[in-house]
Amino acid sequence: MPDETLVVTNELEAHYGRHDGLVADILAGLSAAGYDIDSLDPSALSGADEFHLGGRGATLALLDSVRGIAPASVLDVGCGIGGPARTIATALGATTLGIDLTPSFVEAAIELTARVGLDDRVSFAVGDALALDLPDERFDLVTLLHVGMNIADKPGLFAELARVLRPGGRLLVYDIMRIAPGRLTLPVPWASSDDHQHLGEVDDYLRALRAAGLEPGAPVDHRPLVSAALQRAADEPPPVNLANLMGPDFVEMFANLRSAVAAGLVAPIQIVARKRA
Ligand SMILES: C[S@@+](CC[C@H](N)C(=O)[O-])C[C@H]1O[C@@H](n2cnc3c(N)ncnc32)[C@H](O)[C@@H]1O
Repeated sequence: MPDETLVVTNELEAHYGRHDGLVADILAGLSAAGYDIDSLDPSALSGADEFHLGGRGATLALLDSVRGIAPASVLDVGCGIGGPARTIATALGATTLGIDLTPSFVEAAIELTARVGLDDRVSFAVGDALALDLPDERFDLVTLLHVGMNIADKPGLFAELARVLRPGGRLLVYDIMRIAPGRLTLPVPWASSDDHQHLGEVDDYLRALRAAGLEPGAPVDHRPLVSAALQRAADEPPPVNLANLMGPDFVEMFANLRSAVAAGLVAPIQIVARKRA
């Protein structure tokens, strides 16, 4: 009998890990666009390394909701190639660890972080959000940006993230959630098939967060924040963009997501939850 975890992991890997030579491709694109790749500012990567609606601007806006707790130690779960982890470390002055299930993304994250000189405070490892190889109560802040759509077991996910969060710490979730019934056309940026397509409703998240001992604040619908960025990305994609990460199919994935947002089926929702002290 096939091991189902392995099958799903391999399908996820086939979706996200489809592109060989990621870093070389990103650097070649930046070089062709006139950047000096030997002295890159981390923000130069932002067209390709922030893999969620609204990109780097959205990451910075999300961080405003947790600045008050001045987190010194942050875990970014499902970190992709590390853009959010680098932005978090720079914006909050925090030591940041990124964990992702896709090995080629983690390799790229490590290489890009060294190249922009942030490897003294940003590190990465391959890992599964459902079974983190990390001690209890280790982090002040855990972030999860556009990852829950790949994970069916939301209660298991939030129980594990709550475990590594210190009492009084915060979990910042920014996921695409279903807000109305209707058919989602695949592929979308997080899934090529139903095997790793696990959109949840806002209430699924709230229930799972509470069951994990977290106190969620009011969900925030970020469609107003991302609508201009979505239009810009469609009209004038930056010279190096998510197609460098996901290959030519990204055009179709992005078009399907934009249609689903425009049809009111899905929305990018932020929830900040506090772990009871
Ligand atoms: C849409 S990308 C978002 C990447 C990153 N958070 C960002 O915003 O740039 C989703 C990421 O979640 C990762 N992922 C999916 N399921 C995971 C799991 N169970 N554990 C860890 N990472 C996972 C994928 O490998 C992928 O890198």
